[in-house]
Amino acid sequence: MVKICCIGAGYVGGPTMAMIALKCPDIQVVVVDISKPRIAAWNSPDLPIYEPGLDEVVKACRDKNLFFSTDVEKHVAEADIVFVSVNTPTKTRGLGAGKAADLTYWESAARMIADVSKSDKIVVEKSTVPVKTAEAIEKILTHNNDKGINFQILSNPEFLAEGTAIEDLAKPDRVLIGGRETPGGRKAVEALKAVYAHWVPEDRILTTNLWSAELSKLAANAFLAQRISSINAMSALCESTGANVSEVAYAVGKDSRIGPKFLNASVGFGGSCFQKDILNLVYICECNGLPEVAHYWKQVVQINDYQKTRFVKRVVSSMFNTVSGKKIAILGFAFKKDTGDTRETPAIDVCHGLLGDKALLSIYDPQVTEDQMKRDLAMNKFDWDHPQHLQPQSPTAFKQVSVVWDAYEATKDAHAVCIITEWDEFKKLDYQRIYDNMQKPAFIFDGRNVLDVESLRKIGFVVYSIGKPLDPWVKDLQVSI
Ligand code: UDX
Ligand code: UDX
Ligand code: ADP
Repeated sequence: MVKICCIGAGYVGGPTMAMIALKCPDIQVVVVDISKPRIAAWNSPDLPIYEPGLDEVVKACRDKNLFFSTDVEKHVAEADIVFVSVNTPTKTRGLGAGKAADLTYWESAARMIADVSKSDKIVVEKSTVPVKTAEAIEKILTHNNDKGINFQILSNPEFLAEGTAIEDLAKPDRVLIGGRETPGGRKAVEALKAVYAHWVPEDRILTTNLWSAELSKLAANAFLAQRISSINAMSALCESTGANVSEVAYAVGKDSRIGPKFLNASVGFGGSCFQKDILNLVYICECNGLPEVAHYWKQVVQINDYQKTRFVKRVVSSMFNTVSGKKIAILGFAFKKDTGDTRETPAIDVCHGLLGDKALLSIYDPQVTEDQMKRDLAMNKFDWDHPQHLQPQSPTAFKQVSVVWDAYEATKDAHAVCIITEWDEFKKLDYQRIYDNMQKPAFIFDGRNVLDVESLRKIGFVVYSIGKPLDPWVKDLQVSI
């Protein structure tokens, strides 16, 4: 029986390994992590991450051919294939701060693999890492190898999106495997291919060299984020000219060369990957003497920051240029619907902006805990563009923030409602009831374009929707933004 061990039981490692276990009953899969509470949660009825369909997959295989353990070294030693899916955050200090990937976790995992291995291993890079990381890892493995073990490094980037992880894993657009172009490298690629071939059609399993696989992941995320920044940039122009961004996006997306997906204007993209991967790409370009290319991609992140700031300015300027002491309901805190993940969520920046103007926030999200929100809001915002100028922020005044478990509670007596995450339930709320219980004039700022503007205006709301013709009210009060 082939034995797989995955180091890192996070958003990527957990669901990916669960799917491999489900589709490959002949393979034993063990997911290991240094975090005891995380592993305990994976072994409990309450999984540590919320992902539609994940519970069923885990339940179907757990303790059969899928195991979760903190005994990292034992399971790595026993495995034929070791996936490394540890976190690779952006460096916050030192060389490359604000842009380069922090490979501390990766390096310590690689050293541990070298230490405990007694048999040949295929080591698979699953986290998003900078191009040429595989080479560095290879060096760590071979230079710490006095036992004559054969290590083959593969890059097998994960393309799943949170909220649709199970669907994405079950029917991937493609699986990408990069390896060395040597007989040993090719054999390792075939071995990993055989795992995916249990359920993925062969023509969707692409094999490339190591560097192409590593760069493809950064490039794919950069292209996706670039589409969002492009439509968000258009949304600002739509508001100024009276065009409707949804109509523009629809018309543009009908061009088969462009396609309709990933053209939803929003308050900004979030998530653990887009910003991190682009900044990483920027850093790699800078290090390779390509400042023009670096500048091009940096704009994608800058437009995203602009979009979040623009949203906050709209809120404040529409409400007579002050939100001081006003209750504002924040509906949604996760970075997108169907996940409880808050990494880089635009909600953090929007809340910081409004708190800076002394608003009182009442936040509701169906999947994010109060603890998580308060941790996120208390954290200093890292300035990726000027890390050397980083100033400690004053601690968030928690007196200004309350977290509630119901959208009606959040909006009661509020002056304004901000939709930050596109949860389906926000479309179905009784807005007449919400309006009746709010202060007047009652404002709605839809950061996800999920609400029907006309029917809200009929109720009496003053409505702002990203990239839509401005409410006469909002238009009159706008300072230039
Ligand atoms: C373009 C638009 O495609 C068309 O919809 C619009 O109506 C007019 O402008 P055109 O300029 O005639 O049409 O040709 P197009 O095929 O778009 O190519 C434009 C340039 O881009 C060419 O120089 C082409 O060589 C180049 N190109 C195109 C690339 O370098 N790479 C590509 O992948 C595609
Ligand atoms: C992304 C990539 O999609 C995935 O392939 C990669 O493996 C990891 O990074 P994820 O961050 O989980 O996945 O979610 P995604 O659906 O890409 O959304 C990212 C952000 O963009 C979210 O904040 C989302 O709300 C936003 N978004 C997405 C838009 O604002 N508009 C869109 O049209 C699409
Ligand atoms: P991702 O979204 O990429 O999956 P996460 O942060 O959700 O990232 O998960 C990464 C996991 O890797 C965390 O649970 C962390 O505890 C784990 N981890 C980091 N370093 C090691 C290590 N050396 N050994 C085992 N687990 C590790």
